[in-house]
Amino acid sequence: MNEGEQKVPSLQVIVGLMRSGTSLLGHLLGEVGWARYAGESHAVFDVEEGVRKAWSIIEPELPPELQGSEGPPFCDKVLVPGQVPDGGRFLAGRAERVYLLLRHPLAVWRSLRDLDWEWGRWDYLIGQLEAMRRMVAWCPKGKLVAVGYSDLTTRAGRLSLFGRDVSSYRLLPKTGVPNWDDPEGLIRTGTIREMSLAVDYERAVSQVGEATGEEGFRKAMAIYRELVMMVGREDLLAVESREKDAPEAAKYLGLKKWGWYLRLDEWKRLFFTEVPVRVLEIGAFDGVSANLMLDHLFPHPESRVYCIDPFLPDPTTPEVCGQTREDFYENRRRGGHENQIEIFEGLSVEVLGWMISEEGYWNSFDFVYVDGSHRARDVLTDGVMSWNLLKYGGVMAFDDYEWKRGDDEFGWPRRGIDAFESVFRPELRLVKGGYRRIWQKVGSGQ
Ligand SMILES: C[S@@+](CC[C@H](N)C(=O)[O-])C[C@H]1O[C@@H](n2cnc3c(N)ncnc32)[C@H](O)[C@@H]1O
Repeated sequence: MNEGEQKVPSLQVIVGLMRSGTSLLGHLLGEVGWARYAGESHAVFDVEEGVRKAWSIIEPELPPELQGSEGPPFCDKVLVPGQVPDGGRFLAGRAERVYLLLRHPLAVWRSLRDLDWEWGRWDYLIGQLEAMRRMVAWCPKGKLVAVGYSDLTTRAGRLSLFGRDVSSYRLLPKTGVPNWDDPEGLIRTGTIREMSLAVDYERAVSQVGEATGEEGFRKAMAIYRELVMMVGREDLLAVESREKDAPEAAKYLGLKKWGWYLRLDEWKRLFFTEVPVRVLEIGAFDGVSANLMLDHLFPHPESRVYCIDPFLPDPTTPEVCGQTREDFYENRRRGGHENQIEIFEGLSVEVLGWMISEEGYWNSFDFVYVDGSHRARDVLTDGVMSWNLLKYGGVMAFDDYEWKRGDDEFGWPRRGIDAFESVFRPELRLVKGGYRRIWQKVGSGQ
């Protein structure tokens, strides 16, 4: 063994389709300290030589304290079969662990098409899937770890995969190429968005036609199905459409995974009225909620919904992403509510402060929906400030009373809502308890 080879730590390999999250997984492995780096530095197909060469590119980029030490393995990724012949078999043979990253072919295809990449063709995906299947059939059992894309991109999945929260990424520059394999800049900025298959599916179909009817799609799905069965991840086949829960939301873009409208009938029973209503919604997200209020609860053409949202990364709602703001405006257009929904782009504390001092807002709203930041102090602040804007007789609904994430209860809404209740009790009549805590403002303020 020569000197160069002695310094090469053991290898882990990520195998997956292009746009299936291979870079993200590599960075996550780096973040939790399970591997040094992820990239595609091998780029030389003779394995022993390729691994040594990869390390010679990677090592100088590492912080000085990590150079020259044995430390954790380094991690490389393999996109099959484009870069490594025979499905990455050679590199996988050299690796101590192979992460097989699985993402639904339709989602991959949509992503490639979105970026206008030349690989957005079914024959390309079919070739990659076939190579992956060959590799899985060959790979020794104990080596393979199957990971679903949603395991990486949902917050809960990340927690369960790595046993800890990973909210920022320490990226190393990749051989001087800006934004290397992170074309949307999502990984680099730490704004990993949740992409459920339902969203991918919906967008794929709406953006590029009836993809699911295509011959190529059917072939790709047949191989993908086989692949996930081989590694026991049949759960990755399900297209969990939310539409069955909220068919009224079908025409709007978005996750549709939360919100009062999943209980539309109940809310209709409680609040439907044909008279004009003024609503304030703190935390607008993609605007599905505001549109459905006008569609189903307050259909009078003079009803108005005033929304507040900064459309900035929100640690308590990691689903907020660059797309959210665009979806909001598109949904408002789809709903035909451009004259009825007004958006204030800012933090609630700023906008509410402005509304309090401005003419025309004080005691003016019939309905306030508090669903912005989930931190207890923010929820309390939103409740207290907007209480001044709510009419007597009006209703205030706090969302997420039972929402819990992490161990810090000051990071949950409940403390804020309880604090609000303890002080405003004389003016509160409980309309409904449970996950959403809803009060009517009673009395006259005297
Ligand atoms: C759970 S989502 C709202 C969902 C929406 N109300 C619905 O029912 O579909 C929370 C929203 O609050 C927004 N948000 C976070 N912090 C905020 C703040 N300080 N002021 C206003 N909105 C905030 C986020 O950007 C996110 O869009």
